[in-house]
Amino acid sequence: MTRKITLDQNLKPIIPDRVVIPYIQGDGIGKDIWNAAVPVLDAAVEKAYSGEKAVEWKELPAGEKGFEQTGEWLPASSVDAIREHRIAIKGPLMTPVGEGMRSLNVRIRQELDLYACIRPVRYYPPVPNPVKHPEKVNITVFRENTEDLYAGIECDSSSDNAARLIRFVKDELKCTIPVDSSIGIKPISPGRTKRLVARALQYAKTKGLKSVTLMHKGNIMKFTEGYFRKWGYEEAFENFAHDVITEDEVFEKHGGKIPDSRIMIKDRIADMVFAEVLLKPENFDVIACPNLNGDFISDALAAQVGGLGIAPGANVGDECAVFEATHGTAPDIAGKDMANPCSLILSGALMFDHMGWHEAAELVRSGVGRALASKRVTADLAGGIEDGEEVSCSKFGRITARKISQEG
Ligand code: NAI
Repeated sequence: MTRKITLDQNLKPIIPDRVVIPYIQGDGIGKDIWNAAVPVLDAAVEKAYSGEKAVEWKELPAGEKGFEQTGEWLPASSVDAIREHRIAIKGPLMTPVGEGMRSLNVRIRQELDLYACIRPVRYYPPVPNPVKHPEKVNITVFRENTEDLYAGIECDSSSDNAARLIRFVKDELKCTIPVDSSIGIKPISPGRTKRLVARALQYAKTKGLKSVTLMHKGNIMKFTEGYFRKWGYEEAFENFAHDVITEDEVFEKHGGKIPDSRIMIKDRIADMVFAEVLLKPENFDVIACPNLNGDFISDALAAQVGGLGIAPGANVGDECAVFEATHGTAPDIAGKDMANPCSLILSGALMFDHMGWHEAAELVRSGVGRALASKRVTADLAGGIEDGEEVSCSKFGRITARKISQEG
């Protein structure tokens, strides 16, 4: 029997009971958090399905391991294996700043067309955090993952290409740019905006959530961010007409209360979103946004509930999905067995949800919740929790796995 995932005609994954899932361990703390996460994910599957379902983990080289083994930082065989198996999970991969190699993470997202970066952010007590009511944050960010300034179309200051673009802008658009400028291109298209917004709306519909907010800077960037807003509304009205209601209608016809089984579709300027998620986080369920806004707001929200060590992430396309820790390689603590593995573990829960293994996903989340509540936590959290006890990364993994195995 095949142990590979296939897709049905609606692109829904069909998951065999014994499934092979590829993983990229990642650089820096990747090894530490991966070794802590696997026992937790295995314990959840075993507890949920008593041996009827199981994951067989298959390592793919990438990052430093990829370079050591194949001379490539991102071997084509690893990308092909994700394509073939449809789902993968990964730790962080290192990217040098400035000169040289493009981010491997961005390359994976672009090569596999993983167009939706999905970041659910919620609070796990007693994680130290900077706000009065972190528990009011329960927000999922849908960040467009393939275009905007992240499209990778950039010309170096004083290069021939930059000079030609600057000349074109001067001659054709009658605008002046300093001649020694670097240039980046910001493409935002209707097709890519609409498929992202459709995913965000479908997510809200499936989960019974009350609102989707289009976050944009369309007051300034009218034809890119402004059109993200316009095309987002078009998608909502064309393909979710029976599900959505506008903010105006909610206030004019329903006294400010969103009717049952409707999703309020609204939009906010990006800077206002940063203010409103701090002041009234309960106003947001799902935020859909272009790439750069999404990068900023998802990390800001993660910080609001206690940091990047906790928040999970998914990069999802129509045919493949890659689940990943949202933090970087943390070189300062790599190999010291002191990193917080929660982000990777909770990304595993998102992966189980994507596979329809919701029981295992829920066990992972409740196991992490109870392990954190026990106050035996990794160094990044222990100091900020009253009576917190510092444990190693691997020990935190074992505590969480045990809590799952003992559940019920
Ligand atoms: P970083 O997230 O690696 O580290 C920032 C700070 O947070 C450090 O003090 C680090 O010790 C701490 N930290 C991060 N994750 C932690 C965890 N799980 N537990 C405890 N503490 C944690 O960000 P930085 O330093 O900007 O990037 C380092 C490298 O990681 C760069 O090469 C960057 O390109 C890469 N990176 C990769 C990402 C990915 O693979 N998705 C995402 C972000 C950065």
